[in-house]
Amino acid sequence: MKVLGIETSCDETGVALYDTEDGLLAHRVHSQIDLHAAYGGVVPELASRDHIRRLPVLVKQTLDEAGCPLAGVDAVAYTAGPGLAGALLVGASFAESLGMALGVPVLPIHHLEGHLLSPLLSADPPSFPFVALLVSGGHTQLMEVDGVGEYRLLGETLDDAAGEAFDKTAKLLGLGYPGGPQLAHLAQAGRGGRFRLPRPMLHSGDLDFSFSGLKTAVLNVVSDPAWQKADSADLAADFQDAVVEVLCAKALRALAQTGLRHLVVAGGVGANRQLRQRLDSALRRKGGRVFYPEPELCTDNGAMIAFAGACRLAGGQAGGDDAAVRVRPRWPLADLRSPALTGPAAPR
Ligand code: KG4
Ligand code: ZN
Repeated sequence: MKVLGIETSCDETGVALYDTEDGLLAHRVHSQIDLHAAYGGVVPELASRDHIRRLPVLVKQTLDEAGCPLAGVDAVAYTAGPGLAGALLVGASFAESLGMALGVPVLPIHHLEGHLLSPLLSADPPSFPFVALLVSGGHTQLMEVDGVGEYRLLGETLDDAAGEAFDKTAKLLGLGYPGGPQLAHLAQAGRGGRFRLPRPMLHSGDLDFSFSGLKTAVLNVVSDPAWQKADSADLAADFQDAVVEVLCAKALRALAQTGLRHLVVAGGVGANRQLRQRLDSALRRKGGRVFYPEPELCTDNGAMIAFAGACRLAGGQAGGDDAAVRVRPRWPLADLRSPALTGPAAPR
C-alpha cells in the first residue's frame, strides 16, 4: 500500500511516498528559510502562500521519482495539527481534494506523532516501548510510547520550547533565522561556564521544563554595559550547555521513572550535536540506547507523516472519505488514542 504524506504545518513543505512493503520510495522538502529570513521569523501568511505554490510541484516530483502514477496512491496522510492555521489548511485542503479525486482514504495526522515515529524509518529502528524526547521549535515534551497511538505525557515545557529558546537567544546574539543551528555552530568556538547561566527546573523533581528564564538571563547579560560582542561564542556555549544539561537530566529521569532503556529523540533540536553526544554517552554508561531519525528526517518532512498514516491504517484506523477539511492548530498529543479509537480530528 502506498501512502502519500503531506506536511505544511510551518515553514517547510514536505511530500513523501511511503510503501508498506518497500519503505520510503521518495521524499522532497522545500524549506522556506530564505523567504522568512528577512523578517527574523516565520510570517504565517507568506508561509501559507508558499505552501500553495510548492505543494503541487513537490507532489509531482515525488511521484515521478518513485515511478508511481497518481492513480497508484492508495491513501493520503496530511498534518492536521498542531501548527499555523493557514499553513495547515493548505495541506488539508490539498490532501482532502486529492483523496476525493482519487477515491482513496485520507488521514489527518498529528505533527508530533510524525516526529516521534520517525526513528522507526531508520535502518536500525527502536522497538516499543520507549521514552521519546520531542524537542522542536514549538514543543518540548517527554512521552512514554508503548505503541502507535499509545502515548503518555511524562512532562513538558511550561513556557518556551527548547527550539524557541535557541531561536530567541540567537536573535539576542544577532544571529540569523533559524537561530538554533547558527547558535550551535557559534557555541563550538566558545567556552561554557563564564556566565553561570541558570539550569531551569533541573532540581524540580518532575519532568517539566522551563526555558524562558534562561533566555531572560541571556538578555540580562547582553544588556549589561560591560557586554562585548566578542564574548558571543562563550555565551552561546553557556546557553547550549544549560539547555543540553537540563534536557539530558530530565530524559534520564524519565527513563529511570518508567524503567525503560531506550530513548528516541525527535524534532529539530534533536539535530544538536552536543545534545546527541551527551545523551549517547550517558545512555551507553547505563546500558541503554538513544535512537534518532535519519538526519534529513530530523526537521519537518512529509516522510514522517506518510509513515504515521501507514501505521494508523495498519492499526485499523479508517481514513476519512467525506473530503471535510479539518485542522487543529492546537492539538495536545496526549489526546491521541490508539488508531482504532481515533477518528478524524475535530475542528477547534
Ligand atoms: O522540528 P522542527 O524542524 O520544526 C518544528 O518546530 O516543528 O524544529 C525546528 C527547531 C528550530 O527552533 C531550530 O532552531 C531548532 O529546531 N534546531 C536546532 C538545531 N537544528 C534545528 N536547535 C539547536 N541545535 C541545532 N543543531
Ligand atoms: Zn516539527
